[in-house]
Amino acid sequence: MERLKVALLLKSEPGKKVLAKGWVRTKRGNKNVSFIALNDGSTINNIQIVCDASKFDEEFMKQITTGACIGVEGDLVASMGSGQAVEIQAGKIEIYGVADSTYPLQKKGHSMEFLREIAHLRPRTNTFGAVLRIRHAMAFAIHNFFNSKGFCYLHTPLITASDCEGAGEMFQVTTMDLNNIPRTEDGAIDFGSDFFGRQTSLTVSGQLEGELGATALGEIYTFGPTFRAENSNTPRHLAEFWMIEPEMAFYDIKDNMDLAEEFIKYLVNYALENCLDDITFLNNMFDNELIDRLRGVLKEDFVRLSYTEGIEILEQAKKDGVKFEFPVGWGTDLQSEHERYLVEKHFKKPVILTDYPKDIKAFYMKQNEDGKTVRAMDVLFPKIGEIIGGSQREESYEKLTQRIEELGMDTRGLWWYLDTRRWGSAPHSGFGLGFERLLMFVTGMSNIRDVIPFPRTPNNAEF
Ligand code: 4AD
Ligand code: MG
Repeated sequence: MERLKVALLLKSEPGKKVLAKGWVRTKRGNKNVSFIALNDGSTINNIQIVCDASKFDEEFMKQITTGACIGVEGDLVASMGSGQAVEIQAGKIEIYGVADSTYPLQKKGHSMEFLREIAHLRPRTNTFGAVLRIRHAMAFAIHNFFNSKGFCYLHTPLITASDCEGAGEMFQVTTMDLNNIPRTEDGAIDFGSDFFGRQTSLTVSGQLEGELGATALGEIYTFGPTFRAENSNTPRHLAEFWMIEPEMAFYDIKDNMDLAEEFIKYLVNYALENCLDDITFLNNMFDNELIDRLRGVLKEDFVRLSYTEGIEILEQAKKDGVKFEFPVGWGTDLQSEHERYLVEKHFKKPVILTDYPKDIKAFYMKQNEDGKTVRAMDVLFPKIGEIIGGSQREESYEKLTQRIEELGMDTRGLWWYLDTRRWGSAPHSGFGLGFERLLMFVTGMSNIRDVIPFPRTPNNAEF
């Protein structure tokens, strides 16, 4: 008999023979009858299996405990109980794998911290099942969105010799013998003898290669893992996270903001339309404002204002007695507390902040006429802070090389990037959406470690 998934069974009409397979969430009952809640990961909901004691051996039934994996053949019938329309009247049960009392997920209500220690098992909980299904749906929706707009999915390399963001937060990639590092005559590390014949790292962003794609294919996006060796142990940073980076020829900063806003709204709407069971579960369990917050984002136009105006608002707030941990002032980078003040307290909706001081942004951003600011845009979200970072790119060869030299960067390593400005340079723009930051918003999870199956953070690379 063909196995049907629980998601499908729960929507099926009663009155047929079925086969279900999955993991036992709970078993309860009395000496006449047992009720098993079976889940196979296809939905947050379990299917109830009713087992008549007369049909099954008592010793056999004792082996069916929380966590065990079983297959059940039986009749799909209308359920007498509340909470489900149908249930399975078991005829035959096969046990694939037992789970004794040492199984860590015995009872509900484990702390998120404990579940992180058993990240290999936590996908079997309701919470992580919901989060991981939403994660999948969002990945699918991202491809859908760009595909429907004619963007080309460009696969940019993970191993690179350039530091896109210029922040020096790169993980090195090497096959050198670390106990016997080859040296040149003057004692320096001889990267020439390393695998790639040069110093290489894991990429912090696919943008630079993305720009090569955009200035050929017009509109591209990347969607892949990126790596940052920033030693920040916060609820919003991972050492390995996924980023979506669209890059578009002929887009200015305004077109870029329009796309970013449309993109996030599309994803939030997709989640509400396709993942409402899971979102409702998370809303009820963790954050009863989640659904309101998601709907709220769809209704509002995002506020657009300059960094300079943002700083004025923050300085005024300080005068009015708001306490910030970090200093506020023109020229300083905004901390998450400042971003969240603007979004949650001042405007009460998402904010796109533009035209940041050039000294706190990356070398590739288009310089404004004032000589002080660049055409950057950060999208700031409630509960998250920065969810997107992007900009219009500097398309002038002269201005770009001058900026690279000002910053003391090595133009030689970037010769291929500068060639886009040398020949057929085009106005263009792009941005990066942190996939896990988006998922924090959509799921309401407050720690980024809980929206990726196996988080990588300082001192943590288990599983
Ligand atoms: O602002 P960032 O550093 O921008 C870039 O990397 C650009 N090259 C993007 C582009 O224009 N193509 O990073 C973009 C986004 C941030 O807004 C944030 O959502 C996420 O990536 N992000 C992180 N997410 C999790 N952990 C980290 N350590 C992150 N660092 C950035
Ligand atoms: Mg940023």
